[in-house]
Amino acid sequence: MKGSDVRVGNVSKFFDEFRALNDVSLEIKRGEFFSLLGPSGCGKTTLLRIIAGFETPDTGALTFDETDVLSLPPNRRQANTVFQNYALFPHLTVFENVAFPLRIRKAGNAEIETKVRDYLKLVQLEGHAHKKPNQLSGGQKQRVAIARALINEPRVLLLDEPLSALDAKLRQHMLIELDQIHDKIGITFIYVTHDQEEALSVSDRIAVMNQGDVLQVGTPHEIYESPATDFVAKFIGETNLFDGEILSVTPIQKVEGEYMVELAIPELGAIKVTTVDEVKSGQRVSFTIRPEKVLISTEKPTTTREDINLFQGFVDEPIYSGFQTKFYVKVRDKILIRVIKQHAKYSDEGPDIVWKDSVYISWSAHDGYIVGVKES
Ligand SMILES: Nc1ncnc2c1ncn2[C@@H]1O[C@H](COP(=O)(O)OP(=O)(O)OP(=O)(O)O)[C@@H](O)[C@H]1O
Ligand SMILES: [Mg+2]
Repeated sequence: MKGSDVRVGNVSKFFDEFRALNDVSLEIKRGEFFSLLGPSGCGKTTLLRIIAGFETPDTGALTFDETDVLSLPPNRRQANTVFQNYALFPHLTVFENVAFPLRIRKAGNAEIETKVRDYLKLVQLEGHAHKKPNQLSGGQKQRVAIARALINEPRVLLLDEPLSALDAKLRQHMLIELDQIHDKIGITFIYVTHDQEEALSVSDRIAVMNQGDVLQVGTPHEIYESPATDFVAKFIGETNLFDGEILSVTPIQKVEGEYMVELAIPELGAIKVTTVDEVKSGQRVSFTIRPEKVLISTEKPTTTREDINLFQGFVDEPIYSGFQTKFYVKVRDKILIRVIKQHAKYSDEGPDIVWKDSVYISWSAHDGYIVGVKES
């Protein structure tokens, strides 16, 4: 992966008075699997359509490989789109659907024959060339659409929620296939989804959007572990999020640039959390701890580690889902903390934790995260 392939520079887009995109800037690298992730209406499709050339931004720049493409029509941009609803030609066979872009540019029959066979093989549809779209399953239709979008060898493949019409199992399966196709052909993929699990599992990097803004761009790990805003923390995965005020900041002896922060959370009391950000006493911040990083036990933990936050509470609601149980634990009679316990080793788990049990919950200061400074 090298160089910037697609660069979106300070793009804004209005529909009458409504601002659908607000000064969006992105640099997408060549060969990257890049996702645009955000809730319905946040501007993902609008941004994708601007990149494809179906929509013009009111302000801003768009370059492919450092060349301005805003003045080019869609068919001259080398960016092909796969839509949510397949958009296949119903009267044409699978073969002719995939061949269509080649026929448009008047390719010879021999080339068409070879290429269509190759791309049908890539999407695992070799045996289906003669069928019509209405004889295919949803997943197969989407594979035809992908083969058709790839056959002209675009530099960028744009995918707008391509799997959303499929059921959950098939969606996962197709996602893995899509990832494999991406690895094989090595071009840039820009993938639009509102499904955070989808985005986390396949993307090299993700842009999280809300209400026309890009809130954070990062690897799945960065987005999940170091959310830039409250919205990102809540939208990606499940979390516990509280407001608090910084009481003290102490450098950690052994780790340069890392601080142990004491934080007052009104409903909870004082907690410890580490940070590498410059923060100071008196600042108001958000604090997040992921439910899977909180330990739950009926016995009081005997650890003497200084970085552990420990609270006693009562199980308000346990939600069993086979491989894990989620607990809402009420602490200080006020605040609910979500805890997820994975059922990995049955024999080690001790007695079941049930509704109304008195429990201890604990987490390390290193696993909590200060999301953002609200005010000083
Ligand atoms: N042609 C249009 N005219 C007026 N408003 C539009 C137009 N296209 C999009 N919008 C508005 O812009 C906002 C962003 O729309 P967009 O389709 O980009 O959202 P999205 O993130 O793709 O949502 P979804 O996940 O539901 O597909 C929405 O509020 C939408 O109503
Ligand atoms: Mg959309």
